Amino acid sequence: MALPHTIHTLARKVAAGEKLVMVTAYDAPSARLAEAGGADLLLVGDSLGMVVLGYRDTLSVTLDDMLHHTRAVTRVRENAFVVADLPFMSYQVSPERALISAGRLVQEAGAQAVKLEGGAPVLESVRRIVQAGIPVMAHLGLTPQSIHQLGGYRVQGRTPNAAAQMLADARALEAAGAFSLVLECVPTDLASLIAAELTIPVIGIGAGAGVDGQVLVFHDLLRFGTAYAPRFVRAYADLNQLIPEAIQRFADDVRSGQFPTEDETYAPSPEVMAALQDVARRMSDDDDHAGGYGGAC
Ligand code: KIV
Repeated sequence: MALPHTIHTLARKVAAGEKLVMVTAYDAPSARLAEAGGADLLLVGDSLGMVVLGYRDTLSVTLDDMLHHTRAVTRVRENAFVVADLPFMSYQVSPERALISAGRLVQEAGAQAVKLEGGAPVLESVRRIVQAGIPVMAHLGLTPQSIHQLGGYRVQGRTPNAAAQMLADARALEAAGAFSLVLECVPTDLASLIAAELTIPVIGIGAGAGVDGQVLVFHDLLRFGTAYAPRFVRAYADLNQLIPEAIQRFADDVRSGQFPTEDETYAPSPEVMAALQDVARRMSDDDDHAGGYGGAC
């Protein structure tokens, strides 16, 4: 029987040359299904704002949203390692605020680690959270919480300066105690170089094959309710087609009277119905004899 993952089993997997598989999960069904499919890590990503809550970006997601969804995931998780995103403004203000927010995700929602975005500005927060005994996953490259600063969802690290800054940030995050790093939308050669330079596992999304693992958003990889998928997504199923087809079949069966059948209903109980009709008859006799104003209605 598989043992629950820890930051150490994950590191050992990478050291043994195996790739890590991380899938986002936001509720009990997605957590169960992602784990049944063999995910090593479940990421309760703030992408839930876009794929579950219908926001245009991740900026509206609150710590309360993250607590609610993380609880749903940890309630049913078995062996996968659960990482929860620190949402926008839950850690940027100060390392103290970052520690309090991270502590709530662990203490109130059962997360095993937290993820936060950025390099140099969050180093002190990473140190404080790790010192409190909470594993931190870092996130560089396209950092969606800075979407207005970045000017759009585009590949990062394209200039020599930006690439050098990303490498320096990655090294600093490792030195600050991060147990893993996500690289999002980073050219393959830069991501591979960073993964080779670091000793901690580097998990990519749109960062090529030269890293230690891959993460995809649950709804993207299943094409589930998403209208658009970036270039780096491979869809392994098409629920956008399967689900409406199934619902259409249900609607057709309801309208044509083919649902439900006898097998899909509970057996009738003639004795109960006979007794009920008896009671109803007596009640209507009583009503016929009732006097006064109310009885006239
Ligand atoms: O929120 C999220 O789902 C993420 C992944 C895209 C890495 O941060």
